[in-house]
Amino acid sequence: VSRSGTRREAVKSAKRKLHQVYGAYVCGISEKHLQVFIKGLPSAAAADRLRPHVTELLSTHSSTRERLPLLEHLYDRIFGVTGVPSKILDVACGLHPLEIPWMSLAAGTMYVALDIDRRQAAALNMFLPYTGLSARAECWDILVEVPPWQVDVAFVLKTWPCLERQEPGAGSTLVNSLSADWVVVSFPTQSLSGSKRRMGLSYRRHMAEVSRSQSWEITELSFPQEIFFLIRKPPPSV
Ligand SMILES: C[S@@+](CC[C@H](N)C(=O)[O-])C[C@H]1O[C@@H](n2cnc3c(N)ncnc32)[C@H](O)[C@@H]1O
Repeated sequence: VSRSGTRREAVKSAKRKLHQVYGAYVCGISEKHLQVFIKGLPSAAAADRLRPHVTELLSTHSSTRERLPLLEHLYDRIFGVTGVPSKILDVACGLHPLEIPWMSLAAGTMYVALDIDRRQAAALNMFLPYTGLSARAECWDILVEVPPWQVDVAFVLKTWPCLERQEPGAGSTLVNSLSADWVVVSFPTQSLSGSKRRMGLSYRRHMAEVSRSQSWEITELSFPQEIFFLIRKPPPSV
């Protein structure tokens, strides 16, 4: 603590270190695969030319492979409820911004992607210029600093349980602290070992329980591999 200043700073720096030494994998994908992917991107990269490259990369690991069957319709369904956003925040983003080619966003859309893993942000910053958006990734511990950006939609995908393990209650605190009209939260319905263990049901119960004390309006979108809660927050009172 004495070297890092406050206790909060010490925790922040320890978490960073843990992520840096965690291994040569980013969301299960090897850094070598990521580098090959970045080198192979087409120079004039319209969404339809990017999709096969991203699909190939995401197919290399079970955790990223499981969303692939959803991609064709997923963002039509989400933005059909929230409206097509012009400002997006992607919290604890992992490799999720690689799905931008399926989102049909207007050129110049603001997209800020945050993850505690520095290598993730670095890899994404090599990819994002190809998307035609005004997009960037930053290394950011979401439990230490609230993102200042005002956005239409914030994604908090498949990260709630991980945040709750770091700080109980972090999920709902995060949703309330984000300056977003909509927060899209998702949970996996299968564990990585493939066992279903009624995870969808228990997360649905958990969200019902958590939201009871909140004034959120929730729309649920359920798929065999992932369950999404589209949370409409009340406008901030003036
Ligand atoms: C299971 S992955 C989900 C990735 C992505 N949201 C998706 O659904 O494809 C969880 C991500 O949360 C990140 N993460 C964990 N704790 C975090 C924190 N305190 N602040 C920011 N990112 C964090 C991890 O580095 C990892 O990339």
